Amino acid sequence: MSYNLLKGKKGIIFGALDENSIAWKTAERAHEEGAEFVLTNAPIAMRMGQINQLAEKTNSQIIPADATSMEDIENLVEKSMEILGGKIDFVLHSIGMSINVRKGKSYTDQNYDWTQKGTDVSAMSFHKVMQSLYKADAMNEWGSIVALTYMAAQRVFPDYNDMADNKAYLESIARSFGYFFGRDKKVRVNTISQSPTPTTAGSGVKGFEGFLSYAEEMSPLGNATALECADYTITLFSDLTKKVTLQNLFHDGGFSNMGVSTKIMESFMSK
Ligand SMILES: NC(=O)c1ccc[n+]([C@@H]2O[C@H](COP(=O)([O-])OP(=O)(O)OC[C@H]3O[C@@H](n4cnc5c(N)ncnc54)[C@H](O)[C@@H]3O)[C@@H](O)[C@H]2O)c1
Repeated sequence: MSYNLLKGKKGIIFGALDENSIAWKTAERAHEEGAEFVLTNAPIAMRMGQINQLAEKTNSQIIPADATSMEDIENLVEKSMEILGGKIDFVLHSIGMSINVRKGKSYTDQNYDWTQKGTDVSAMSFHKVMQSLYKADAMNEWGSIVALTYMAAQRVFPDYNDMADNKAYLESIARSFGYFFGRDKKVRVNTISQSPTPTTAGSGVKGFEGFLSYAEEMSPLGNATALECADYTITLFSDLTKKVTLQNLFHDGGFSNMGVSTKIMESFMSK
């Protein structure tokens, strides 16, 4: 259902890889809610070609940008304003990658070159995006910037590996930069801490199926889907949440405040 929540708003959406991506669902929902936006992803992800279908469906243009490259991001910000005909109202950072996770290196046996690359892609890129937007004065007042995160930033999930540290860093950047963005530009910055979700990035984590079903059974409302995450993100881009900033917002069916559920207890006792 559409409520015209983003009518007249302009944005940049990072990270739509395929139709499972949280960013893909967010782009579809933003389009339904009346927004215009530019889609962006790493040049290597572009070659897979699927983002073109999304661009067509949402009447959007695509600007490739490696989120670790200041040059690419600055170009993206400048070109987006040209394409959209003015400043930006919302930005979604939906980017995550760990080479240690991908290559099965455990947390206690890191390849630090890979660790550094993962931090640059998954966390520092958020600082780079915000710094580029801030310096170019590219955000409209009462604009909204959102990045996606996971609860391993606060609690231990051993197989989430170095991504846990990257998410802690990402959430800290949201608060620190959010202060300056709020004070100087009246722009809000938040992170959404999403349930495990079956996407390319999510499924790459060792034991992901276990993660998914454990969270499902622990959460009173069950896991939040990618589409539900998109819906929540739309509310944060809308004018209905103008004074929400510097927050890490759990969107996880209640998982983050649970100790144990009856379902988990029953399956534990039956063993
Ligand atoms: N899937 C989950 O279980 C889950 C849970 C909580 C949070 N998140 C977070 O949600 C966000 C989106 O992930 P997703 O689950 O939709 O998976 P996804 O694999 O669809 O999206 C990850 C995106 O990051 C992009 N990316 C990687 N390196 C990049 C670079 N150098 N420059 C620009 N883009 C780059 C990829 O191309 C891809 O589009 C990530 O931050 C992820 O950590 C995911």
